[in-house]
Amino acid sequence: MKIGIVGLGYVGLPLAVAFAEAGQEVTGLDLDPAKVAALNGGRSYIEDVPDSALAPLGERLRASADYADLSACEAVVVCVPTPLTSSREPDLAYLLDSAAALAAVLRPGQLVVLESTTYPGTTREQLTPILERSGLTVGEDLFVAFSPERIDPGRTDYTIRTTPKLVGGMTPACTARARELYELVCDEVVVVSTPEAAELSKLLENVFRSVNIAFVNELAQLCDRLGIDVWEVIDAAATKPFGFMRFDPGPGMGGHCLPIDPFYLAFKAREHDFYPEFIELAGKVNQAQPAFCVERVERVLNQAAKPVKGSKILLLGASYKAGSGDTRESPALVILRLLAALEADVSYHDPFVPELPELGLASVDLEEALAATDLAAIVTAHPGIDYAGVVATAPRTLDFRGVTRGIEADNLERL
Ligand SMILES: NC(=O)c1ccc[n+]([C@@H]2O[C@H](COP(=O)([O-])OP(=O)(O)OC[C@H]3O[C@@H](n4cnc5c(N)ncnc54)[C@H](O)[C@@H]3O)[C@@H](O)[C@H]2O)c1
Repeated sequence: MKIGIVGLGYVGLPLAVAFAEAGQEVTGLDLDPAKVAALNGGRSYIEDVPDSALAPLGERLRASADYADLSACEAVVVCVPTPLTSSREPDLAYLLDSAAALAAVLRPGQLVVLESTTYPGTTREQLTPILERSGLTVGEDLFVAFSPERIDPGRTDYTIRTTPKLVGGMTPACTARARELYELVCDEVVVVSTPEAAELSKLLENVFRSVNIAFVNELAQLCDRLGIDVWEVIDAAATKPFGFMRFDPGPGMGGHCLPIDPFYLAFKAREHDFYPEFIELAGKVNQAQPAFCVERVERVLNQAAKPVKGSKILLLGASYKAGSGDTRESPALVILRLLAALEADVSYHDPFVPELPELGLASVDLEEALAATDLAAIVTAHPGIDYAGVVATAPRTLDFRGVTRGIEADNLERL
């Protein structure tokens, strides 16, 4: 099959590689010329896709910035960003732009699948009318479906092949076409009755995580008041083999999905005079967590009779999750900004994030920085860092990720 993938980011590139590895001819479409040039030169820019995975694909994966190159494809999968506007409402601009560009090159018989996370109704109410400007009719000579991406960057135990894939088409024929497409790369394709059911299933998965993370973040704040170790409590509860699912507290929620996607559902709900309180409350608690971490920094320094102003504070980790260089919505950035506003002398070490131009910072050498700092705060639990060594070297360590569990030291505090 000839398959087009629009948007070669964290979602689109691994999917393009999966189809090419399965023997299909893939055209990857991205407006970013640097990404197109990198891929055509055999270089990946996504941690989960090593350069060595691109080399054997040869001509089966070509990148382009020209939508006309998609007209030869039997199926086109859209994986463009769906962020929020500054007023925290859905920003469908990337999606609408790519739909308009696609409508200009569509041919009869093509399948278009949307994978970008969005509110229920987007495929039917936003995408389809734009695609039909091509003169084609959905269900007759154009096939449209929604299939949410379930990728979890950095995860290796579940892959595109072994993670069940949901599809919901605009008509039964659309669903059948989408199912055939994903059966090329997924062991199990799960059909739902409509695009709306598939769109909402994805949001349920993300809201479920957001609400539970907020719950344990709030529990961490309560444990701080009660003087109880939240990690010990969670470790203990997690020994129950049924009826409990583990979530860990942390410095706040980051990434392109969890801090954003629930607000897509809240927006849709408000259009129907419905106020989904769990979503709003979870967002509020999770957004407040970086400020709570800064308060903990203030308290630790206070015990040493040091003001935040002028103190050297080293953050370990700038990305939002371990093993990734993705800094989108990262709570580390919020913590760095809050501490800088208090005139702390902030620095960070992150092997995956060489620099943070928006903050005018570059990752510092860990050994040197630990020796010179007043406080080291573990914000991202990157692998390959000797956390016992951090505690042994830094005068004070504050661990927001629980990676120092098992270490007892007077100069160590945990969330
Ligand atoms: N990152 C994740 O872990 C993850 C997981 C599940 C779902 N999603 C969802 O998948 C979608 C894509 O996320 P991502 O993380 O891959 O984003 P990304 O920013 O990494 O990649 C998106 C790509 O789309 C390109 N692009 C933007 N507008 C375009 C246009 N009009 N035409 C062609 N290309 C265009 C950008 O240049 C970029 O390379 C979002 O809706 C996101 O919510 C992401």
